[in-house]
Amino acid sequence: MFQSFREPIGEPLLEWSQSIPNDGLIHLHLSVGSHALLLTDPESLADVLIHHAYDYEKPGFLRRHLRHALGEGLVVERGEAHKKKRKLLMPAFQQQRLYNMNPIILSTADLLVKQLRATIPSIVSSELHSKNMVDIKPWMSRAALDIAGHFILSHDFRTIYENRAFYNAWHVIEKGSTLSQLIWQGFSPELIKRLCPTSQDKQIASAGIYIRDTVSRIVDERLEQYKRLDKLPGDVLSQMITTGEFTREECIEQAVFGIGAAFDTTANILSWALYHIAKHPQLQATLRAEVKRGYEMNVPSEDIHRSMSLLTAVILEASRLHPPIPVTVRKAVRDSSIKNQFVPAGTCIIISPYVANRSSKLWGIEAEQFSPERWLSGRIRDGPSDNIESPSSPYAYLTFLHGPRSCPGRSLAMMEMCIIISSIVTVFKLTAQQENEPETRGFLSASPKDGIHIGLSKLNEDIHI
Ligand code: HEM
Repeated sequence: MFQSFREPIGEPLLEWSQSIPNDGLIHLHLSVGSHALLLTDPESLADVLIHHAYDYEKPGFLRRHLRHALGEGLVVERGEAHKKKRKLLMPAFQQQRLYNMNPIILSTADLLVKQLRATIPSIVSSELHSKNMVDIKPWMSRAALDIAGHFILSHDFRTIYENRAFYNAWHVIEKGSTLSQLIWQGFSPELIKRLCPTSQDKQIASAGIYIRDTVSRIVDERLEQYKRLDKLPGDVLSQMITTGEFTREECIEQAVFGIGAAFDTTANILSWALYHIAKHPQLQATLRAEVKRGYEMNVPSEDIHRSMSLLTAVILEASRLHPPIPVTVRKAVRDSSIKNQFVPAGTCIIISPYVANRSSKLWGIEAEQFSPERWLSGRIRDGPSDNIESPSSPYAYLTFLHGPRSCPGRSLAMMEMCIIISSIVTVFKLTAQQENEPETRGFLSASPKDGIHIGLSKLNEDIHI
């Protein structure tokens, strides 16, 4: 049945979508009596993600799995409750709030680079030695976790610097994003799960308790501040409290979910982008020159990353090839239609950013190649990222999905990735030694299986940001 979710996640679906003649829908027989529709073209995706978005919800097994890993966040809400909560939360994601995050992201990136330098003190020349190879993924995770802490709670978890316990707890949760956990959590009877928890269940449960305890202390302090009529910071937590629509428990759950949704996804793309930069020395040199020019141009710091088109293109390309959520599933909660074809209630729908992002129909025969140039129009105009080309269809790039359930953190993630990558390429020369592309694992979020190891050597002259 779960052949469709064989690792790397999305790959078998991509093979079928390219090899089975179809008009945007492929009927998959998963097991006896169990079937699903795989969406393969922009029209079918638009019907499910936009036109009839609320006819389709996450199925019970996925919601149970997500709940077990991340708690009762927005992503498991349904129907009217989802519409209402999303509307209440969205002001926390507005542009002004992102601008306010800019100095925090810059200082996190700065700290990250300092810590990386301190960890590899032997790197003084540009000569690469095997001991200079660093698994970049945990570093990116800690930077992204600290930024998520600021954005959601205005709290510095300092996981880059010292507080590994909070990071380690999240790492346990991330490791539980496997197909076997999905099957166990999604399909086993509640009583059996309660009476016979696996050792991984126990680890995830105690990591969850640690994370919730930490977050609940911050929530309680903020509720006290609110009662005292103190001025609250403009973060996601304050947004929830001031609407008066979220209970203390809901604030905790949404905050925990928000952190989980924000950091590992961003860290994965950051790691892949650095891997591709390391693999392409010429691209790396051009990128470094673009970053240097960008910082010499005196663009206001909150817009600086937007003036760097090649950097933006590299991130878009890494996120196209390696979407951290490669597959998501929906179930028709009422009779509906896709491309004017009747879809009965209960039908399972598979949406795969991996399939859309790598489709040769949508991206051409070189769809599976890393080619940031495909995002560059060649029209260099004044203004931020003006020469970034949109894909042939919005549904050709689904890394953040589209529609009322798309990722609200997209702009934050893009800004964060631009700043962190610029900080790294200005200080280090990156080198790749892995012959084959790192393998991925995981269902909830796909991560590099054995990390992403790149060589870091200090450049002779730093560019000062
Ligand atoms: C590169 C980084 C990121 C990627 C690729 C990403 C991708 C996604 C995707 C694909 C979904 C939809 C999942 C589904 O419905 O099956 C989603 C939902 C969500 N993401 Fe992100 N995300 C990223 C970063 C962030 C950040 C930084 C935040 C918050 C600060 C965030 C907050 C959320 C929330 C709250 C939802 C639930 C939305 C809803 O159900 O209405 N994400 N994300």
